[in-house]
Amino acid sequence: MIHELHKRVVRKWMTYAPKLWWGDFVDIRFYLTEKLTELSGQRILDLGCNAGVIASECEAVGSEVVGLDMNLDALGRYQEFFSDLKLPARVVCGSWNALMFKKESFDVLVLSWVLCYDMDNEKKNISLKALNELLKPGGKLYFVESNRDCPIQGEGQNHFWTIAEARDMLEGNGFEVEELAGWNALPSLLFWLPLSVKMQLPRKLLIYLTPPGRLVQYLPGWYKVFRFLSKFEWLWKYCRSYYLCAQKV
Ligand SMILES: C[S@@+](CC[C@H](N)C(=O)[O-])C[C@H]1O[C@@H](n2cnc3c(N)ncnc32)[C@H](O)[C@@H]1O
Repeated sequence: MIHELHKRVVRKWMTYAPKLWWGDFVDIRFYLTEKLTELSGQRILDLGCNAGVIASECEAVGSEVVGLDMNLDALGRYQEFFSDLKLPARVVCGSWNALMFKKESFDVLVLSWVLCYDMDNEKKNISLKALNELLKPGGKLYFVESNRDCPIQGEGQNHFWTIAEARDMLEGNGFEVEELAGWNALPSLLFWLPLSVKMQLPRKLLIYLTPPGRLVQYLPGWYKVFRFLSKFEWLWKYCRSYYLCAQKV
C-alpha cells in the first residue's frame, strides 16, 4: 500500500541518509518504488543507487539487487543500512560509463534520476546502448527523470529530456516503451500570469511558489490524483518529472 510504502521510504531516508534524501515528499520515485516492488525474483541493477533506499524495497520483496554508484560515501551508507535491515548489500563502486558486468546479466535496470549526469545526447546514446546489452532478452528498464518541458523544474536545462524525447531516445536504442507517466503538474501560484511574464521571473521564485510536497502529502488522496492525472498527455508539458518503463526488443 502506497501510504505505508511512503512512510517507510521517508523514514529510511531520514534515519540513514538525511543529507542525500530526494527533498520532495511527493517525488515521482515513490511511484517508481511502488512499480519496482510489484516485481519479485528479479535480478536488478540500480545504476546510481545512492544510499540504496529504492534497492532495499526491491530486496525486501524478493529481488536480488546490485547497486552501482561512484560515490563511496553513499555506498557506505547503503552497506550500513542494509546490514541494519539484515539484507545482503551487493554494491559496486564504479561508473555506468565503464561497465564491468557480463552481457545479459540483469532482468531489470533502474535509472532513477541519473542519466542526466551524462550531459549530452551523444554520451547518453553510448550509455543506453551499453545498458541494453546488459539486459537479458525481454528485460526491462525503469527510468525517471526531470521533464525539460516543465517551466518550473526543467526548462532550459539541456541535460534533461522532454517526455517525447525520452521515448524517442529509448526507442532509438533498442527499447520499446511500454508505459509513460507524467508526474506532478501542480502549477505555481503565479500560474495566472502570462507565460512571457512568468519566464522573466527567477526560477527559484516559481519553485518557491509551487505548493510544496511537504504540504501536498497531507492532502487526502494526493497519490491517487497524481496517478490518475499521470496518463493525460496534454498535461505532460507541465509535469515536473516523468516515469517510463521500456522493454528490450
Ligand atoms: C540524483 S542521485 C539519484 C540517486 C538514486 N538513483 C535515487 O533516485 O535516489 C544521482 C546518483 O548517481 C550517481 N552517479 C552520477 N554519475 C554516475 C556514474 N557515471 N556512474 C555511477 N553513478 C553515478 C551519483 O553519485 C548519485 O548517487
